[in-house]
Amino acid sequence: MAFPTTRMRRLRATAGLRGLVRETGLRAEQLVLPLFVAEAGAAPAPADDDAALPALARLSISAAVERAREAAGLGLGAVILFGVPSHKDPEGSGAYDDEGVVQLAVRALKQALPDGPLLITDVCLCEYTDHGHCGVVREDGLIDNDASLELLARTAVSHARAGADILAPSDMMDGRVGALRSELDAEGFADTPILAYSAKFASAFYGPFRDAAGSAPAFGDRRSYQLDPANGAQALREASLDVGEGADMLMVKPALAYGDLISAVKRETGLPVAAYNVSGEYAMVRAAAAAGHLDERAAVLEILTSLARAGADTIITYHALDAAHWLAGTEAPFT
Ligand code: PBG
Repeated sequence: MAFPTTRMRRLRATAGLRGLVRETGLRAEQLVLPLFVAEAGAAPAPADDDAALPALARLSISAAVERAREAAGLGLGAVILFGVPSHKDPEGSGAYDDEGVVQLAVRALKQALPDGPLLITDVCLCEYTDHGHCGVVREDGLIDNDASLELLARTAVSHARAGADILAPSDMMDGRVGALRSELDAEGFADTPILAYSAKFASAFYGPFRDAAGSAPAFGDRRSYQLDPANGAQALREASLDVGEGADMLMVKPALAYGDLISAVKRETGLPVAAYNVSGEYAMVRAAAAAGHLDERAAVLEILTSLARAGADTIITYHALDAAHWLAGTEAPFT
């Protein structure tokens, strides 16, 4: 039926009509807040971005507990923890040290907030290696995929032992999900889910994260292991391989320019999909809002709703606290 019988505007005329037919809602419990936990003695962040990018601040363990308490109060579903260690070495030993900063933070958070948000830990070596790569580096400068798997699995088990609820490998080595799953099962953590960073692209949008986490590669880049932004079919292949290796949830990262893959991964695998609205995407919105070009609240809620509409069940976002405040109708902390 065409115009004039059909008039799309009939259902848009009032807030009541729009509300009645709205397809996608946003819930605080599907949002995940990233937290950067710095070990005492860690080098300070290169620039003090606190005012411009408050969600990227390096936190002490006690400050992280306070921020997680706020997240819990607002009903956020989870926090995802990144560690900033005081010591780095070629093998990233701080990643799988049972007394490492993430392990200590997990224990402190579980003790302070037993009913608090779920604790997701990022499982990677790049924050802990002195060369900043996500795996061990061979003498010829290439990343040794298979040698990295054992260290990543050890890291995951160490996080699980500390009490992490969900393990999220972000290294993009081949076979890491299977390596983590079999090591976790062998160590008594068969019930701990894996959220695989399956479609993780070598992106220009990770810059502020690398400053916050101190994880920029000392040489080269990550294009030999992260996906080429031009490749959608490869991203789907990564996702289906991760499903085969036992992933429980799949991630697409970054989010804003990757809605096609959020939809396709959801459609093709049927697994829960997490979109990671990354640091550079957060920085763009914050900068535009600070310059008066965007209404931050409206822009953020539009972005997060659109990621949910594309197919994301879970959204990791630096806007999580603000968004939860806006959804609850209370004043936002950062804006
Ligand atoms: C670690 C990791 C990165 C991000 C999440 N986990 C950095 C990278 O791969 O370089 C980026 C997140 C963001 O930019 O918000 N491998």
